Amino acid sequence: MMKAAVLGYGTIGSGVVEILEKKKDLITAETGQEVSVKYVLDLRDFPGDPVERILVHDFNIILNDPEVGLVIETMGGTGKAYEFVKAALLAGKHACTSNKALVAKYGSELLAIAREKNLNFQFEASVGGGIPIIRPLYSCLTAGNVTEITGILNGTTNFMLTKMDREGRAYEDVLKEAQALGYAERDPSADVEGHDACRKIAILASIALGQFVDYEDIETRGITDITKADMAYAKEMGLSIKLLASCKVEDGKVYASVSPKLLREGHPLYTVSGVFNAVFVRGDMTGDLMFYGSGAGKLPTASAVVADVVEITKNSDRCVYPGWRDEKLELSANTGAVNQYFVRFSAGDKEVEKQALEAFGTEEITVLRQEPGFAFLTARMTRGEYEEKAAAFPQICQMIPVQE
Ligand code: HSE
Repeated sequence: MMKAAVLGYGTIGSGVVEILEKKKDLITAETGQEVSVKYVLDLRDFPGDPVERILVHDFNIILNDPEVGLVIETMGGTGKAYEFVKAALLAGKHACTSNKALVAKYGSELLAIAREKNLNFQFEASVGGGIPIIRPLYSCLTAGNVTEITGILNGTTNFMLTKMDREGRAYEDVLKEAQALGYAERDPSADVEGHDACRKIAILASIALGQFVDYEDIETRGITDITKADMAYAKEMGLSIKLLASCKVEDGKVYASVSPKLLREGHPLYTVSGVFNAVFVRGDMTGDLMFYGSGAGKLPTASAVVADVVEITKNSDRCVYPGWRDEKLELSANTGAVNQYFVRFSAGDKEVEKQALEAFGTEEITVLRQEPGFAFLTARMTRGEYEEKAAAFPQICQMIPVQE
């Protein structure tokens, strides 16, 4: 029997307890042994909830109980979550987590402890919620090199951009709706400024490239400056604006970014809308792959956590290592990355249009009757070249790279 402790009885933690109970027979058949939750740790009380029987407020009860072989962390954050998971591993207990912030910041250290102690530290739910992506990356895609991972990894911002695109609404307006529906937090910065997606792509890139990619090195831009006018121009050009988290290997250089980008209709991520997430993976042997599904939500995310529980229970006598080499991978400056760019001028007469077209190597401009100024797509050039040219045009009010 595997006895587990769930740390945190919020949305995901309660989902984990629910699935472990509801799917008990299935899990027993899969693992060959019963998995039972001996404790749930939370600061709160839950009067009337069956969890009351096993609820504890002191982590030391779990840590000092030799019967507990697995700690399931669903608290979030990098404070107590880090302290508890590290202590559990050091005490010889396996661990799994749904917490991307914990994995992005302390993954290398926690993985090293797990390996040293022949334990498991798994985190399938930390990226893409219910979408299987971490295990495929470290176990199914090992017969070749991954050359690109590009994901819509944040459901809240994808919901907002979809609403702006389809309903012609303003950023502030769709943010309020996302908050009312419980997708965006009262302080929405982690989502709308791209920090959530940044941590997720750092984890995926580290696994895919086999070397630690530090989220703090990833250039991150959110969606806060995307306007109704940008959406209207993009729509007119047949393009869709998405928040993309991306890591690409080109000529031996590794580029990573989180940024709004324009997608053409043929791109596999073009149709991913609403709160859904998707991850596009390009491999030199596999070609293009797509992983799509619910990137958040109680049961989809909890099911990924429980899949880790099953994996750990089946491999409780050995370390299945999902990680990377700890030596930090140096990312190349994005000024060297080549792209086309969507550029919008807030104002301009025929002379400015002519100068802009010449400077950016473009033949076609888009003018919308309802919007002042004009917009166009540049020729392909490095970001550095774009920035040099753009310095001569103070009328530029928006630039968004086009995804290739
Ligand atoms: N805030 C995240 C999102 C939740 O909107 O995708 C899942 O990590």
